[in-house]
Amino acid sequence: MAAQVHEWAQSLESLHAQAWKRLLRGVNDRRAAGRHPTLATVDAQGTPQLRTIVLRSADPEASMLRVYSDCHAAKVAELRANPAAGVHIWDREAHLQIRAVAVASIVTGSSVAALWEKIPEHARCNYGTQPRPGTLLDDGLDYERIPAFEDFAVIELAIQQFDLLHLGHVHRRARFHRSDDWAGQWIAP
Ligand SMILES: Cc1cc2nc3c(=O)[nH]c(=O)nc-3n(C[C@H](O)[C@H](O)[C@H](O)COP(=O)(O)O)c2cc1C
Repeated sequence: MAAQVHEWAQSLESLHAQAWKRLLRGVNDRRAAGRHPTLATVDAQGTPQLRTIVLRSADPEASMLRVYSDCHAAKVAELRANPAAGVHIWDREAHLQIRAVAVASIVTGSSVAALWEKIPEHARCNYGTQPRPGTLLDDGLDYERIPAFEDFAVIELAIQQFDLLHLGHVHRRARFHRSDDWAGQWIAP
C-alpha cells in the first residue's frame, strides 16, 4: 500500500469527522467501502455472528446508522435479545479501519412505513422470504421472495464508541466515546 498523507488523520476532531464522511459515502455510493460494513452480533450461546450488510443511512449529528433486514432474520432475533452490536469497515481508499460499538433497536410497522415507500419495488423482495430466513430447505431454491411490509425491519444502531485506525506513513489510532461527547483519545496502534 502506497504511503499517503491524509491531513485529516492528524487531529482527533478531523479523524472523527472523516469516519462519518466515509460512512456517508457508503450510504450514497454503491462502490464505496462504507456501503458494505460487517455487522457483528452475539447469539444466545454467546457466539459472535458476523455478516455483510448494506448501510442505508448515517446520521453524524445523532451518531446513528440504519440497516434494513427481514424481521425473521437471525440477526434481528439476536439483537432483540442482546442489543450489543459491532460494525466494521476497512476503507482501503482512506487507509482507514472503522470499528464501532453500538446499541441496536429494531423498528417495524407504521414508524418505518415512509422508509418502505422509498425502497424500489424490485428491492422490496429482500424483505419477505418464504419460508422464513434460516429455514432448512430440501433444495437450494425451495423458497420465494414476496415483498411483505410486515416483514420489513429497520435496525437502528446508536453508536457508543469508535476505534479508528489510520495507516499512513505513520499509523494513528484513536478511540471516541459517546459518553465523552466524542472528544477522542489517541491510543497506541
Ligand atoms: C453484499 C451483501 C449485502 C447484504 N446486505 C444485507 C442487508 O442489508 N440486510 C440483511 O439483512 N442482509 C444482508 N445481506 C445478507 C447477510 O449477509 C446474511 O447472509 C443474511 O442476512 C442472514 O444473516 P443472519 O442469519 O445473521 O440474519 C447481505 C449480504 C451481502 C453479501
